[in-house]
Amino acid sequence: MTGKASLSKALDRFPRVRMTHAPTPVESLNNLSSDLGLRLSIKRDDCTGIGFGGNKVRQLEFYLGQACEQHADTVLITGAVQSNFVRTTAAMAAKLGMACHVQLEDRVATDSEHYRSSGNVLLNRLLGASVHHYGVGEDESGADAALDDLAGRLLQSGACPYVVHLGMQHPPLGALGYVSAAMEIADQLQTMDRVDVIYIPSGSALTHIGVLYGLRMLGIDIPVRGVCVRRSKSLQHKRVVTRLNELGEMLIGPVPSSCIELTDIALAPGYGIMSESAREVIEKTARREGLFIDPVYSGKTMSAVFQEADQLQGKHVLMWHTGGQPALFAYQDAFGYQPPVE
Ligand SMILES: Cc1ncc(COP(=O)(O)O)c(C=O)c1O
Repeated sequence: MTGKASLSKALDRFPRVRMTHAPTPVESLNNLSSDLGLRLSIKRDDCTGIGFGGNKVRQLEFYLGQACEQHADTVLITGAVQSNFVRTTAAMAAKLGMACHVQLEDRVATDSEHYRSSGNVLLNRLLGASVHHYGVGEDESGADAALDDLAGRLLQSGACPYVVHLGMQHPPLGALGYVSAAMEIADQLQTMDRVDVIYIPSGSALTHIGVLYGLRMLGIDIPVRGVCVRRSKSLQHKRVVTRLNELGEMLIGPVPSSCIELTDIALAPGYGIMSESAREVIEKTARREGLFIDPVYSGKTMSAVFQEADQLQGKHVLMWHTGGQPALFAYQDAFGYQPPVE
């Protein structure tokens, strides 16, 4: 059996609800290409459809597939206040007729009123999600445990809850969506000039490992450069190794961890805080290409491409746009624009 056939067969073992507008387009960014001295293409996973799209739609197809299989009527998820995962879950749950409870963690230190009430927070409200607060930032297992407690209370009141767990104690189900996306890009690569490197954000790492695993299993050796957006390269490396091995166990065997590439060049000053470099890159991408990228994920990924442009001269770079633009409205204070003058 070919790599493609075995991967498809392995993916088919997992329940799935299909909602992604796929294949998402691959576009050339000609203006930025000439500015940077390289050839820049972009995979538009900001255009995956439902609820402003983004990478989490592909991941949630598998979590919510499991939820439907378990006849759940209520979905629970935890994330940062401006989490795109939370907003996308609320949108997909709405479409499936499920109630949604979202728990917002204090992961980013800010006193911005827009951060607390606009962007994804506003969208969660529009989507009818019940919003809960978790007062700690970096405590994945604590946040999952609080969500499990809430699920227990909902169960007692007669609901059938399903929890989308983010912690490392749970299998990396969402990565399956990006194994499937790797199969999609593999088809698109056949009609494109050779891509030299793919840049992709690496947070929970499920997008990163899904693409990396899928491509390697299809015999495609393009480097997949994970851009750290949440933690340092050394911490992220440990996470990616673990998650990649777990994915191998869920599917058709391991890929070597030697294929993992990471950079944390764009991480500072930390998760969820827009750097000066990301701000400039967001503005430049909007002004040169009419394209929006976000302050937390795609902006930092593009910032890594800009910062590493010297080593990429003449190369064909594919930047994987994972969405997140609603957060632009939550970060408007950080852009520092003044009101128009009379
Ligand atoms: C817009 C966006 N891009 C990228 C990521 C990172 O993806 P992952 O958590 O799969 O590493 C996230 C995570 O929340 C996201 O919201």
